[in-house]
Amino acid sequence: MPIPEEFIQELKSRNDIVDVVAAYVNLKRSGRNMVGLCPFHNEKTPSFNVSRENEFFYCFGCGAGGDVITFIKKAENLDYIDAVKFLAQRAGMSMPEDSRDSGLAHLKNRIYEANREAARFYHKQLYTPEGKQALDYLRKRNLSEKTIIHFGLGYSPPSRFELVNHLKSKGFTNQEIIQANLANLSKKGYPFDRFSDRVMFPIIDLRGNVIAFGGRIMSDIKPKYLNTSDTPVFNKSRNLFALQFAKNKAKGQLILVEGYMDVIALHQAGFENTVATLGTSLTQEQALIIKRYCDEVVICYDADEAGQKATSRAIAILRGVDLHIRVLRVPDGKDPDEYIKNHGEQGAARFRMLLDKSSNDIQFRLDSLKKQYHLELSDQRVEYLTEAVKVLAQLDSSIEQDVYLSELSNELNVEKQAVKMQMQKYQKRQFRDARKKEQRDIYDAMTAKNDKINSEKFYNLRAANAEEGLISLIMKNPDTAKQIFRQLSPGQFMTSFNRKVYEILKKHSESGGECTMTCISGEFSNEETGSIARILASRPRENDPGRAAEEYIRILTEENEKMTPEQIAQADTQTIMEQLRKLKEKKK
Ligand code: UTP
Ligand code: MN
Repeated sequence: MPIPEEFIQELKSRNDIVDVVAAYVNLKRSGRNMVGLCPFHNEKTPSFNVSRENEFFYCFGCGAGGDVITFIKKAENLDYIDAVKFLAQRAGMSMPEDSRDSGLAHLKNRIYEANREAARFYHKQLYTPEGKQALDYLRKRNLSEKTIIHFGLGYSPPSRFELVNHLKSKGFTNQEIIQANLANLSKKGYPFDRFSDRVMFPIIDLRGNVIAFGGRIMSDIKPKYLNTSDTPVFNKSRNLFALQFAKNKAKGQLILVEGYMDVIALHQAGFENTVATLGTSLTQEQALIIKRYCDEVVICYDADEAGQKATSRAIAILRGVDLHIRVLRVPDGKDPDEYIKNHGEQGAARFRMLLDKSSNDIQFRLDSLKKQYHLELSDQRVEYLTEAVKVLAQLDSSIEQDVYLSELSNELNVEKQAVKMQMQKYQKRQFRDARKKEQRDIYDAMTAKNDKINSEKFYNLRAANAEEGLISLIMKNPDTAKQIFRQLSPGQFMTSFNRKVYEILKKHSESGGECTMTCISGEFSNEETGSIARILASRPRENDPGRAAEEYIRILTEENEKMTPEQIAQADTQTIMEQLRKLKEKKK
């Protein structure tokens, strides 16, 4: 680890985990811990635990867990070094000299700088003779000077070497320019501009870094938009266009549109709570990010068939993270940008009306469902009814449910009571299935059937449980830890994951450090850290840690002496006799 241990300790003591987490999660006290709704998966009952005392968090629902640095890594989507920087900044500490410029962190910083420089360069081009056509294009699309500057729009010149040359003159290396995906490498091995003769839309993250670009061609040539591919600083399924502006204007609601131009037109018209995905359909990761800033999303996709299909997919994903959804349909086969433009001065007011009129996603879903059936045929009517009640069953409000039930019964000419019974039957079945699944999950967790991190656990359940007990004791009771380290060598751990954890803790303690989540988190992946946090979270504090340690060590010694069937098959008679003798002695 490039960052000194003392710095990390200081960082941790100045960033209390409960305070840090409280900025993202509404926490309530529960016994020794604080609990809340997990920010990393969707849940209705809180299973996200934070322990101030032991400086870690753990979610019993999704298995995420770790120390305050792991939390920031996940919550802010940062790598280790950047998470440390984030917390250092939060606590007003400056980073130690030698850790500032190391490896990936250094490359990422250079890419941010190259992107920023490129954005500046592209923007300036708008005001050159060559860029005039691009500026005219933007004006023709009704964008004001203020909007062009606000979004930092630009123009990439056609020559294919101007940006590369400009960046080189500013000290960027070919390698950095290519890693930023601002240039491609020619067959002959020299870099040339990725974007040429396009209107440029910089994509900016929540911390204000330029992370990517979208570039629109001004003619009919395909592709219409060219975007930055994924780079060390950019992942298109984890970012949203204009979220850096929209997050402060959300007031509980975000508008989700398809295109860059839709976002910009809506912001200009005063709807600054608008965001878009980046040339892909909405992902669950994006939905979870959206959920941090609002509880209602208005989907306002293009009115064409593709847009309506995308709406159905987005509804499923947003529902999956428990967001309220409305669907705004733009009339006359348009997208929001064209709609506003076509209505001139009234554009904003009209869009406001559409927004107020937009209804929840149930109506949209019933409408799309209805299109799939020929309602004049009675067997198709029954099928439609069966599917429709499944949609209504998901409504939380029984008043709303009742309204739709009435509509449905009128529409299909079926007794309302019958429709209602059909829905309740479905609800009951769902409830039963959910219960069954819950029981199955608990069973699997108990038997460690699906433990992906410690795959040996299932075959060494007794030993692995003792190992986990010891790990938990070590991390919660410094005095007992010393006793355990004296008595037990890492070789006695039977599952290799737990052995690695033990080895690291032991080494750490021997060099005078404390055994906390912090000394672990630098050495393990997020998933592994989560698994260690689970070990801590699922074990109550021992009243007599010394005695508990003795017991676990006894179990582990005993398990070590047992042989697996394969070992028995391989062992010669003498070893087997030896084993039997040992076991007999023990029984005496
Ligand atoms: P649209 O084709 O609906 O374009 O694509 P648009 O936003 O209305 O653009 P204008 O009004 O014609 O200028 C919607 C979004 O899909 C992505 C872009 O993010 C675009 O904003 N897209 C589209 C691409 O990434 N590549 C393409 O070739 C086309
Ligand atoms: Mn458009």
